[in-house]
Order: sequence, then C-alpha cells, then structure tokens
Amino acid sequence: MNTILEPEQIVYLRAQVGEEHCFTDDERLTQYGQDETEDLVYKPTIVLRPANAQEVSAILKYCQAHQIPVTPRGAGTGLSGGALPVYGGVCLSMERFNKIIEIDERNLQATVEPGVINEVFQEAVKEKGLFYPPDPASKGSCFLGGNLAHSSGGPKAVKYGTTRDYVLNMELVLPTGEIIWTGANVLKYSTGYNLTHLLIGSEGTLGIITKIVFRLIPLPTYNLVLLVPFFSAARACEAVSAVFRAGITPSGMEFMERDAIDWVMKFETDLNVSVKPEVQAHLLIEVDGNDLDLLYKDCEKISEVVQQFDCDEILFADTADQKNMLWKMRRKVAEAVKSNSVYKEEDTVVPRAELPALLEGVKRIGKKYGFKSVCYGHAGDGNLHVNIIKGDLPDAIWENELPKGIAEIFELCVQLGGTISGEHGIGLVQQPYIGIAIDAKRLELMRGIKTLFDPNGILNPGKIFGGGR
Ligand code: LAC
Ligand code: ZN
Repeated sequence: MNTILEPEQIVYLRAQVGEEHCFTDDERLTQYGQDETEDLVYKPTIVLRPANAQEVSAILKYCQAHQIPVTPRGAGTGLSGGALPVYGGVCLSMERFNKIIEIDERNLQATVEPGVINEVFQEAVKEKGLFYPPDPASKGSCFLGGNLAHSSGGPKAVKYGTTRDYVLNMELVLPTGEIIWTGANVLKYSTGYNLTHLLIGSEGTLGIITKIVFRLIPLPTYNLVLLVPFFSAARACEAVSAVFRAGITPSGMEFMERDAIDWVMKFETDLNVSVKPEVQAHLLIEVDGNDLDLLYKDCEKISEVVQQFDCDEILFADTADQKNMLWKMRRKVAEAVKSNSVYKEEDTVVPRAELPALLEGVKRIGKKYGFKSVCYGHAGDGNLHVNIIKGDLPDAIWENELPKGIAEIFELCVQLGGTISGEHGIGLVQQPYIGIAIDAKRLELMRGIKTLFDPNGILNPGKIFGGGR
C-alpha cells in the first residue's frame, strides 16, 4: 500500500474537498493521528474533510485505484485505536457531516449525518418528547458514526440496548466508491442478509456511513438515582444480578471500585461525595419510567436486595443537581484514570451473574503479574472496564509481561461465557488477542466478508485482524 503520496495525488485529493478542508501540516497530522487510546500517535499523510457522500465516493474511488490507505475518523474518542491511521495515507474526517436531517415525529424516527455529536442528537429529540438512549461516557463529544462503528453502549444499555438496537438503515459509501442504502426505514426486516447490522460494529473496515436512520422511543418522564456503598467489591458485584432477579430492570447499574471514586474526586474537584474509609466499592443505580410511585417502590425493593450484600447507608439523589453530580462522577472515571498514570483499558464482558468471578480473576491475575487495576463499568451488562495501571512497574514488565496477563484475563472472560470487548471494539490494541475470543473458522468468514467489500484492503487497514486486510 502507498503511504507516501505523490505531489499530484495530493493535488487530486485536495481538489475533492477544497483547500480549506485538506491538511498536510505536521501539527494537524499529529492532532488527527491520535484518539483517546493510551498515548498512541500514528500520523496520516493527509487529512481530508469531505462534506457529502459524493466527495467520499470520489476519494475512495481514487484511493482504491492507487492503493492508498483510508482511515475514517469520527470525533476521535475511541478507546481501541480504531481511528488511528496505522499505515498512514488518508485520514477521512467526518466532522462536516454534522446535520440532523429530519426528526420524523409521526414514525418516531430520525435521519442524521454521522458527525452529529451524540448528546446534541439526544437533546434535539428530547425537545420533541422523544428518547435516543445510547449514551457512551463521551456523549458530550463522540459522534454517532463512531457509535455505530463500535455499537457503543453506555449506562443506559442495560435497559435500552446498545446503538445497534436503534439503527434501521444507513447510507453507505463502499470502498469501491459505490453508494448504497443497507436496509429500509422499518421496525422489522426479514429481507435477506441484514447489511445494516453487519455494518454496525465493523469499525470502519467495510464502508463509510454517510447517513443514519434511527428509531426513537418516547421519553420516560421520571428517574431516580441511588448510590450504594459496599464494604466489599465482591459483594457489590454479587448484588448486581440479585437486583434483576428481584424483578427490576434498572436504567443504569454501574459499578465503581474505591480507587475509581477517589481518583475522580481528585480529578474533578467540584464532585463531592463522602466515602467512609472502609467502603470498597459503589453501585450507582438508576430507575426510570412514567409513574413516580412505582419508581419509589422499585427503589425500596432495590434497597431491600442490596442490604443482603452488606452495604452501608444508601445515598438517595432526589434533586437534579445531585443526580447530575453522581452521573458526572461516573462518566469522568476514564479521564481521571488517564490523568493519573500510564494505563491500559480493557473492556471485558461476561454474563451478568459471572461478574464476581471476573473481578476475583482480574485481581488474582494482577497479583501474579504484579499490576494494579482499577475496575468500574456497566455492571448490569456484566461489562467491566479494567484499567491496568502502570504506576511504578518497570518498562520491561509493562512491555513483555503485561500482554500475558491481559491474555489470561481475556481467556477467563471466554471461559466464563463472555468476550474481550463489550463496547470499545477490537480496533488496533485488542487485535493481538482476537483469537482468544473468535476461532479460526469465524475469523476466516470475517476476513472473507472484508475482502468482498474491500478487495484491496484500503479501508482502515490494520484493524480487527491486523495486517493490510
Ligand atoms: C466508560 C467508557 C470508558 O464507560 O466506556 O466510562
Ligand atoms: Zn463504558
């Protein structure tokens, strides 16, 4: 593949988007060469910011003919390195695709461009009494297109599902430059292979999404939030599945280890929750719906259940400010950890009732390899973010031993019936471990699909499978 572009190739590509939407200066290449994954930087050769599907198509046709790698980019908030142009070439930034085209109140649907920020979209539909639930921690900056690339989740996934559950159809530019729609704007689809769902989670390796049709639901009118402190992190994890078994489906069920709360309060000084020294973990639980009395009853039931797992006094957030503070605390954990130390973030996921076994295994494996971890995440989904902290670990151990420890954690996930990523994707950094979760036959089928869409392997090379394909 050609990562060094000839001057006439630069001229051609620049002409497709216009001078002001093409960058080749070192400062911009460095900026577009990073996302939120660790401190990795892979500079593209050129950044292009197309405005519509036709421009994307022209760029892809040219890059296909000249074997130039193209790496699509949303807002750059990814945590698996999916937007890093590891082979250089074109960084295709989707930031100008920022229009909400239509909110169809009659059908509870919306058509948007992929560069719309998740929270901007949520707020726009909220004004019409509608609800788009997927809410990744980065909702204030991440793009919807990036959310589709990984089928992003977030706290609300536990009740409402992930991005995948809200996408009906999309306009897609294939790596060959052809433009297609993947499905239909309907709630049921039994019409051949579902290309829409194939594309969701394909991490920008199969095509460039240029329009998305979402389904929406009515906005629930009330929510209540509880913060439950536990004296043992293992007991907090055990309480999670017990709440669901008691007949309640919370709209948020988040776990935070003690360090996660301490670090986030150091990082964001306006957050203030008093935590007793002996508290080891918290569950942040939200219920939502349209009948406030029923929600209070749910909260009573939740209190009864969690008390069986040795919790301390429950903090009941009843004002909007308190709720926002607690949710901000939870959403800021990843940034707080990042600011504290070099780290690696794993996105483990197991069946919900196996969460205690996963947490115990992560700590055991950490002891064996000498690393500390801070765990938090979407406990109701069995989705535990494991932040492995470098701290004082020598570089040699970090480089050579840590991958063995990570592999052991992932093997444990699979033994427990889970997998190695729930919502962050494989991207670049989990790619060496994909064989732990996906056997050779399944990988062969996936590679076959990739080749069918992208015969020369120009689109987001080096992701999911590694190599040029
Ligand atoms: C979170 C991101 C890291 O849950 O997925 O905070
Ligand atoms: Zn998460």
